[in-house]
Amino acid sequence: MRSKSPPCLSEERRDKDGAPAFQLAARNVAYTVSKLTDYSAGALERASAELFSALGEEASAVKNEADWKVFRDRWMARKNGVLTQVNELWLKAAPREAKREVGQVVNRVKEQVEQKIKGAKDWLDAPSLEIMHPGYTVSAEELEKYRFEKIGSVDITLPGIRRPIGAEHPVVKTTNEMVRVFQKLGYSVAEGPVVETDYYNFESLNFPPNHPARDTQDTLFIAGQQAKPQRERLLLRTHTSPVQIRTMEKMRPPLRIVIPGTVHRNDPPDASHSPMFHQIEGLAVDSNITFGDLKGTLDHAMKEFFGSSVKTSFRPSFFPFTEPSAEMYVSCFICGGSGRRGSDPCRPCKQTGWIEILGCGMVDPNVFEFVKDNGYDPRKVSGFAFGMGADRIALLKYGVDDIQLFFQGDVRFLRQWA
Ligand code: PHE
Repeated sequence: MRSKSPPCLSEERRDKDGAPAFQLAARNVAYTVSKLTDYSAGALERASAELFSALGEEASAVKNEADWKVFRDRWMARKNGVLTQVNELWLKAAPREAKREVGQVVNRVKEQVEQKIKGAKDWLDAPSLEIMHPGYTVSAEELEKYRFEKIGSVDITLPGIRRPIGAEHPVVKTTNEMVRVFQKLGYSVAEGPVVETDYYNFESLNFPPNHPARDTQDTLFIAGQQAKPQRERLLLRTHTSPVQIRTMEKMRPPLRIVIPGTVHRNDPPDASHSPMFHQIEGLAVDSNITFGDLKGTLDHAMKEFFGSSVKTSFRPSFFPFTEPSAEMYVSCFICGGSGRRGSDPCRPCKQTGWIEILGCGMVDPNVFEFVKDNGYDPRKVSGFAFGMGADRIALLKYGVDDIQLFFQGDVRFLRQWA
C-alpha cells in the first residue's frame, strides 16, 4: 500500500508556521517505493527510472544542512528508508529465478542514492554555493569551517570572494538627479500604473474619443478589451500625464508633484526610439499660478541640472491638456550654444545651438473639470505641467549615441557608470 505521508514529513519536522521543513521537490505526492508486479527487464527499468527521477528532484531541492539531513534519512534510514523498502519490496519479494537480475538493479540504486546524498552535501559545502544560488550568502564562519574540514587550515593564498557592487543605470541616475532638483523646490514624488485605462491616459486629459491628437501617441493597446466601454479599456500608458489626474483625485490643491516612470509607444526601435522609455512629469496647482511661474521654475531647474550657464527658450506648441502649450529648449550644453565644435558642426543640437528638452503648458481648464469635486474648480485654481524624456536627457548628458544601449543590459556598457 502506498502511504500518504512519507516518514520525513512527520509533524516534528514542520516549522512553526506548519509548513514542511523540507519540500519534497516539485511533486505533489512524495515518491514511495511500489511493489513490483512482474520482474521483467522492462518492469525493473520503469520502476528504477521512477525512483531515479524522484531521487534527482529531491536532491536538487536540498538548500541547507537541515534539508540535507532529512533527505539523507528519507533514503538511507535503516528503518523504512527508501533503500530499505527497495530491499524489502523488490529484492526480498522477488522469486528465486529473478533474484540475480533484481539484485543488480538494487545495487545500482544503492550506488546512485549514496552518490546523490554525497553530491548534495558537497554542493552545499562548496563556497561556490553563492554563485550557484543567488540570494544565498555563505557566512564567514561557514566558509572557514569548510576550509578547515577540507583543507585542514585556512589557506590565505586562496582568492577572496568577489562581491560585485551594482551601480545606478544611467537613466535611473538621470531621473534621480532631475527628481532631486524638483524635490529641493518642495515637490513630492508621485507614481501611477504603467497599464492604464483609456480614461486616465486620454479622456480626462482632454483627448476626446476619436480626437486626432490620440494618433500622435502611437498607443499600444491591451488585447481583448472591446467588450468594455471605451474609457475602461486598458492600454500601456503613452506618457506619465495620467498620474496628474490620478494624484488630483487623491490630493486637494495646492499640489506640487514630480512623476518619474516608464511609458510605451508603438515606435520601431532605432538609435533614438525605443518602444519603452522613461518620462519625468511635473505638475503644480495653486491659486494664481501663471506662465511666469512655469518659466521661472523650469529655467531654474535646467540651470540646476545642466549648469548655471544654460539658457532656456519657450516656443509655442500644442497638447490637449495644456493651454497655452510650449516646447522648452535649453541652449546646447555641448557646444555652449554656438552650434559648432571647433571647425565641426555640433551634432546633438543639429547646429542650432538649442536642444528640445520638454513639453509644457498651463493646465487646461477642461482637465480641472474632471477633478472639480476635489477642490480643482477651474475658476479658482490654475497650474502648470511639464513632461520630459529621461532617456533622451541621459543620451545627451552622457554622449551616448544609441538609446538601445540603455536597454540591452550589456554589463560592459553599464559598467561605465559604476
Ligand atoms: N505628456 C506629454 C508627452 O508625452 C508631455 C507633456 C507633459 C506636455 C505635461 C505638457 C505637459 O508628449
